[in-house]
Amino acid sequence: MPENVTATENQVDGQPESTGLENLLHEERSFPPSPEFAAQANARPALYEEAKADRLAFWARQATELVSWRTPFTETLDWSNAPVARWFGDGTLNAAYNAVDRHVEAGNGERVAIHFEGEPGDTRTVTYADLQREVSRAANALNALGVTTGDRVVIYLPMIVEAVVAMLACARIGAPHSVVFGGFSADALRSRIADAEAKVVITADGGYRRGSASALKPAVDEALAAKDGAEPTTVEHVLVVRRTEQDVEWTQGRDVWWHDALEAADVQHTPVWVEAEHPLFILYTSGTTGKPKGILHTTGGYLTQAAYTHKNVFDLKAESDVYWCTADIGWVTGHSYVTYGPLLNGATQVIYEGTPDSPHQGRWWEIIEKYKVSIFYTAPTAIRACMKWGEEIPNKFDLTSLRVLGSVGESINPEAWMWYRRVIGGDKAPIVDTWWQTETGAIMISPLPGVTATKPGSAQVPLPGIVADVVDDNAQPVPNGGGGYLVLSEPWPSMLRGIWGDLERFKDTYWSRFPGIYFAGDGAKKDEDGDIWLLGRVDDVMNVSGHRLSTTEIESALVSNPLVAEAAVVGATDELTGQAVVAFVILRGEHAARAADPEGAAAVELELRNHVAKEIGPIAKPRKILVVPELPKTRSGKIMRRLLRDVAENRTVGDATTLADSSVMTLIASGLAKPAGSED
Ligand code: PRX
Repeated sequence: MPENVTATENQVDGQPESTGLENLLHEERSFPPSPEFAAQANARPALYEEAKADRLAFWARQATELVSWRTPFTETLDWSNAPVARWFGDGTLNAAYNAVDRHVEAGNGERVAIHFEGEPGDTRTVTYADLQREVSRAANALNALGVTTGDRVVIYLPMIVEAVVAMLACARIGAPHSVVFGGFSADALRSRIADAEAKVVITADGGYRRGSASALKPAVDEALAAKDGAEPTTVEHVLVVRRTEQDVEWTQGRDVWWHDALEAADVQHTPVWVEAEHPLFILYTSGTTGKPKGILHTTGGYLTQAAYTHKNVFDLKAESDVYWCTADIGWVTGHSYVTYGPLLNGATQVIYEGTPDSPHQGRWWEIIEKYKVSIFYTAPTAIRACMKWGEEIPNKFDLTSLRVLGSVGESINPEAWMWYRRVIGGDKAPIVDTWWQTETGAIMISPLPGVTATKPGSAQVPLPGIVADVVDDNAQPVPNGGGGYLVLSEPWPSMLRGIWGDLERFKDTYWSRFPGIYFAGDGAKKDEDGDIWLLGRVDDVMNVSGHRLSTTEIESALVSNPLVAEAAVVGATDELTGQAVVAFVILRGEHAARAADPEGAAAVELELRNHVAKEIGPIAKPRKILVVPELPKTRSGKIMRRLLRDVAENRTVGDATTLADSSVMTLIASGLAKPAGSED
């Protein structure tokens, strides 16, 4: 971390945390846009000037040009109730109408909206007209199940066309959706259903992943099952998409097949016109406490910024581009850059169900060749995996259709950036490294292709209309060359409007550290040109493969196992996944002996890893679990994660003088002479 960033929750001893990303700053390469690209680009340097001259007028123009309003807005921003913003507050609109119907009305009904590629190789082509029919039917089907405007619907689906249809059907009737990533466990699903008090869950029998069919419906059944001591959920119906033909348990009266419901439904549906601030969706994300936060996004501002960023950051030309974002709809990237951004802009996109290595490690490149993908958006962890598999794999495919490459989720290390540019982008496609968050709703900091000279490893500049800065502890902007906290100093259209049901937590998490400005939770540095480099989280949130995981949430999961007395979790630097979850556990007295020999330790580790998978989901499984006799704590009882990270990353343990008992680290180190470790 930069020197002038001082203690945060996990830096109780005042020592700067090392994110391992500082070496990014030694990069000085920069790639100016080619004149040909610049001449054709959607974005022009004048956008910055325009936004700077009158930010609100700039956003009003974007909202008017990129979004279709039923009732035009007259007020751009009302910030009088800060930090809850109202953007375009007196306008009315419908998100699904904007994403689908208006393109059909404009004569583009036969344009392909989605090229779907299933993992087993099945394909489906969905035009905008097809999408309009299917979304309308699904909206009628939801209405028939009693869902009305304002009701919450949980979506727990694989990456199939129905996932997008389900989101849009909810939006069409003004029922906020809460998409839960299919990799989350029944327990995680249950808590999200309960928090949002959902009326309907949309799921599938299963999906295809890594060459076989995996099940999804059983997790829904388990999540909805009556439980001792727990309130029954508010769910009345479960809509089930048939994807894999596997047998499913059926609850009569509650469960309904998606295809039956859609067949029975009318193909005409009038969208419900909602106010700009009507909730569009809730999306849960990890915070610094054990309880995930339901990030709330509303309609008008969110759609405006999703469309604006998708058009300018990816230089989308709807008539000619084929766009592909590899994110799952379970994450915010799948919301803004699979469902909403591309469809709002009338794009043709690819949706792929499976993993990049099924059935072979060239699957992604094969898909790019097949559909002539021209804009490709993925995460650094995936790029690093492909690098590891070797460039001879992508080299077998024709990737010359690619003209813009995007990266999201974590900082992209310069090596991966250079590889991405050379091997995938043929040394010509600009790379946009896009910084944003579930909370920001859309991209905030990114180069603009055709305008910005790109630098490997840096997200660089706030987009036109966005005001971001790096500040010190006193909220003062740091000079070029300095480091501190990333903040967003002015409201933006797609900003979160709150945490579902918890206004205080919203204020506390984002707005209390520096009153009046948004605290993103990321450390950052400005280079000599004033470009922003992201340095990782400054709170107890880890970033594993571009996904946010809370150390506290995993610790809570571990201590809920009867074997465990105490647990501490850290994110250790990992070559492939950015960070990896490493847990240190103290076993309860009667179990402590079980881990005495390597076999016992391995069994304990396996049990605990599975336990975390059950409580949260396989993505949260610790890479390593180390059984220790003690945890390093300060006199005030706080765990010094910095020291544990040193151990997890095989470094010499740093200054331990502020520990209540400084012999603890020796004890841990000696107990770890042979750490048990396992990989997925
Ligand atoms: O730490 C930053 C990192 O991911 C966090 C947001 O995570 P999430 O809400 O899950 O959204 C991920 C997809 C938008 C941020 O606080 N992050 C995201 N993009 C970047 C990044 N860090 C560095 N560079 C990025 N491009």
